[in-house]
Amino acid sequence: MTKTVLITGGAGFIGSHFTEYLAARYPEYALRVLDVLTYAGRRENLAALENNSNFAFIHADVRDKQAVYEAMQGVDYVVHFAAETHVDRSILDPDAFITTDVYGTFVMLEAARRTGIERFVHISTDEVYGSAEQGAFTEQSPLQPSSPYAASKAGADLLAQAYYRTYGVPVLIVRPSNTFGPRQYPEKLIPFFTVRALHDQPLPLYGDGQQQRDWLYVGDHVRAIDTVLHKGQIGEAYNIAGGNERTNIEVSRIILNTLGKPESLIQFVQDRPGHDRRYALDDTKLRVLGWKPEAEFETALQETVSWYAQHPEWWQPILQQQAEYRQFVQQWYAGRETGR
Ligand code: NAD
Ligand code: DAU
Repeated sequence: MTKTVLITGGAGFIGSHFTEYLAARYPEYALRVLDVLTYAGRRENLAALENNSNFAFIHADVRDKQAVYEAMQGVDYVVHFAAETHVDRSILDPDAFITTDVYGTFVMLEAARRTGIERFVHISTDEVYGSAEQGAFTEQSPLQPSSPYAASKAGADLLAQAYYRTYGVPVLIVRPSNTFGPRQYPEKLIPFFTVRALHDQPLPLYGDGQQQRDWLYVGDHVRAIDTVLHKGQIGEAYNIAGGNERTNIEVSRIILNTLGKPESLIQFVQDRPGHDRRYALDDTKLRVLGWKPEAEFETALQETVSWYAQHPEWWQPILQQQAEYRQFVQQWYAGRETGR
């Protein structure tokens, strides 16, 4: 049966992969992407869909009540990705994280309450649980966010739960782990280090580089959201784990080896303030719905690194034209070069 799906943040990394995936898997669905195109959102990310008559792009802000309300007319499913997403930026300047991630989610939920949709998938994050010193978080674990980004996502997650309990808005929440793949903005560890290594520039590894992340390939991530959208139980939250716990230094070495660059490019720098040591999720609940990750980590990482090496036309405009990005990197370098 055909459905109309509103996807916020669909011009970003995961949102664009998800929109492409839905178009291929459910060609009968009408897809509407709502995105304000911040530094991280790019129309080029949706190039494969521009000639698809079932696809529409709405240039709007999730904080704009009227625009969101209008975009939600006739919608069956909402998948809400739009957010400020980079932890380092949230430490430098948290403002937009509060307005977009918290208030923007409120605007989305409020419009959903007024229009009456069938399903609202809220994309949260594993960072809402804070650092996992041992074991793995279940969906029942307390939310103990560390950074302003994680706190803003925790606020949005709690609001989504409240809108289900209070108003019966048909909310489903996913909490995915660190995701990687093509078209990720080159501020996040894997694309940032890949692009720097391609230029023989040092890779600034925070602290001792022994922090662990559980890496999830973007193709597995979007299949998991599809599973929750179509099979998840309304009112429930689902962890999405990659099953690939690696230290940052291990990931850095794979990137360098893939590109044939020396490990001497690794440069230890001052740690990120409030840096979570480890993320780990128990994804049993999602696996019961029939999903499991399929990508083999090292292969997927090598393929991802090769994609960046082969597609400079994707990242070069970012480096060349976005003065904001360069300013951001320089800001981070200031005071970080003394290292440990
Ligand atoms: P991204 O930064 O690549 O893209 C974010 C998108 O949201 C961009 O297209 C941007 O233009 C849009 N956006 C930002 N503010 C907006 C606003 N006010 N109104 C409308 N659009 C706006 O992000 P991503 O890495 O693809 O992450 C997508 C979602 O997944 C986010 O909610 C993030 O918190 C969550 N998440 C990401 C990861 C990860 O590893 N990347 C892991 C877990 C959860
Ligand atoms: O866990 C899910 C989260 O993963 C998402 O919710 C966020 O949107 C996403 O940005 C990501 O957050 P992280 O902070 O884990 O990702 P990031 O790529 O910024 O950093 C990954 C690890 O690498 C982290 O331990 C910090 C470290 N790092 C990062 C950068 C950019 C470095 O050592 N040096 C760097 O220059």
